[in-house]
Amino acid sequence: MSTPDSRPMSRARGEISTLVMPHMANILGDLFGGEIMSMVDQAAAIAAIRHAGGPAVTASIHRVDFRERIPMGSLVTCRATVDFVGNSSMDITVDVFAEKPSTGEERNTHSARLVFVAIDDYGRPKRVPRLIAETDEERARYAAAESYRREHPTR
Ligand SMILES: CC(C)(COP(=O)(O)OP(=O)(O)OC[C@H]1O[C@@H](n2cnc3c(N)ncnc32)[C@H](O)[C@@H]1OP(=O)(O)O)[C@@H](O)C(=O)NCCC(=O)NCCS
Repeated sequence: MSTPDSRPMSRARGEISTLVMPHMANILGDLFGGEIMSMVDQAAAIAAIRHAGGPAVTASIHRVDFRERIPMGSLVTCRATVDFVGNSSMDITVDVFAEKPSTGEERNTHSARLVFVAIDDYGRPKRVPRLIAETDEERARYAAAESYRREHPTR
């Protein structure tokens, strides 16, 4: 259940998809890394804004793993989840999937970790609702993000 003080993890999600076109290519003809970063940031922003119920900004991008190249003509989807929250900060994971539309074959090509901070009308950090894990998968994700944050403090 969603209240002003808490929101379920199932709501704290963001997703965007696009078809890889020639203007998005690097010199090898694959999807340019900067395009992937932009999509990752946008998917994370959707998840953060949904959870915060208002504006949120990118505070840091901790890590992006580029495991595989994404060829032209792929359908790229970035799926973001808010996994843990502090007072105003939200720890977000984004997984990138590349689908070959002709066959439906899909590969998880990239993963990223970001921190977003909710802000008020004056751009100051604003408290976010607590994050409620309702399933075993969500509880595991929350616990993993909590220990990642302990090992990688933002300050
Ligand atoms: C992110 C920002 C709002 C933080 O403001 P601030 O006054 O420095 O924040 P504070 O020191 O009070 O910390 C507020 C929260 O942000 C977190 N935070 C601040 N800087 C951070 C960083 N670099 N990485 C991760 N978290 C950070 C703090 O840990 C704290 O979390 P908590 O409230 O959950 O405890 C501010 O630095 C900012 O506006 N940055 C520019 C953002 C931007 O332009 N992004 C790109 C466009 S969206």
